[in-house]
Amino acid sequence: MILSRRVFLAGLATVFGGVRASAAAIQHVLSPNRIQAKIAGHKVSMLGFNGSLPGPEIRAPQGQTVEITLENQLDEGALVHWHGLRVPNRMDGVNVLTQEAVVPGDSFRYRFRVPDAGTYWYHSHYLSYDQVSRGLFGAFIVEEQDPPAVDDDIVVQLFDILLDDANQYDETFYPAQFATEGRIGNIVTAFTPPVSVRIGDRLRLRLINPSIDRVYRIKLNGLTGKIVALDGMPLAQPQSLEPIFLAPGQRCDVIGDVTGQISFVDIYEEQTSRLGGIFVSGSRDPAKTTIEPLPQNKMPKPAPPSQTAELVLQGGAGSARHGGSGTWALNDVSGLPRSPLLSVARGEAARISIRNETGFSHVMHLHGHHFWELDGAGDVGAYRDSTYLEEDEVRDILVVLDNPGAWMLHCHMLSHQVDGMATWIKVD
Ligand code: C2O
Ligand code: CU
Repeated sequence: MILSRRVFLAGLATVFGGVRASAAAIQHVLSPNRIQAKIAGHKVSMLGFNGSLPGPEIRAPQGQTVEITLENQLDEGALVHWHGLRVPNRMDGVNVLTQEAVVPGDSFRYRFRVPDAGTYWYHSHYLSYDQVSRGLFGAFIVEEQDPPAVDDDIVVQLFDILLDDANQYDETFYPAQFATEGRIGNIVTAFTPPVSVRIGDRLRLRLINPSIDRVYRIKLNGLTGKIVALDGMPLAQPQSLEPIFLAPGQRCDVIGDVTGQISFVDIYEEQTSRLGGIFVSGSRDPAKTTIEPLPQNKMPKPAPPSQTAELVLQGGAGSARHGGSGTWALNDVSGLPRSPLLSVARGEAARISIRNETGFSHVMHLHGHHFWELDGAGDVGAYRDSTYLEEDEVRDILVVLDNPGAWMLHCHMLSHQVDGMATWIKVD
């Protein structure tokens, strides 16, 4: 699979004079449609892109321009958002804020350059709590010009599904779930491509959490290695493979060597559950080289903030009253406020203090940018696009707002987003 892709890219480079970035745009069509998926042994009617759940894996070399045509085959609206990718605002795929929903039978052509290598994903951003939970998501991989040497590069998507007593997708809206930790499925699974690897192989695993509300703490059996990237962005120093933590929307890249049967076990809840694994057969001598950091992307540098904002997370079961009209609110407003949380000139840095006053955890995601998590002393930590806060936790983030447009900032627990936890930032 990987070999044939390399051959294909090499072919493109020859035709277009050896400069990959100047090659013609990579073309894709994404058609959301109704599908019958096999889930836990049951035939379940779900949604997919091009007939599959998850949607097709999109891969592009860093710097390339991609053109993706959304052809809506559903009998409801559709939109696609490119989570974590720094795209022009009008390509961001957010209902109302950046474009109107594509109506049934209609199409929309997304066109953008992929500036940063890493693990990203795409998903519906129209009634997303519903459409994503029914299957409208897929992986979007941007490959380094000079990728690390591995035997296999495998995307793993951790997803949960709520089935009813008839083993069909549960369409009920449970207020008790929307006001607490969200809609949590009773089936958890790890979608992996049908590959087989050998003991001793060096793998790159790209873990993505497209689940709408569920948080995972993954124990990775059968592999020793390091975490090399979070939310697509390379870590300056690879980290040890402690249980891998993934809140909705977050990603984690791992490089490591196979030592036995590979399985992904969720140890977040008291009851551990096995989500899936990768088939191992045969063996080879393991690579003896150390795991190096991935090449850094060219990103803005941390700068002293010229703007600050407070973002208070409110609402949910058992919480104090707030001024919003929904279950959840940000700064006393439920849903997108008329005026943005911040309005800045392009290139300004902002510090946002996020204070979780609810009794539940949340994961705040900013579109169009990555940001630094700041520690108590104000020092910069991980560079991410989604930050996780436990109940009552406070976290400051620092962001250089260099991408013009109207950018959504919301809880990626999509049941919380739909019921109030969304705001936006304006960059001129
Ligand atoms: Cu995955 Cu508004 O985002
Ligand atoms: Cu939330």
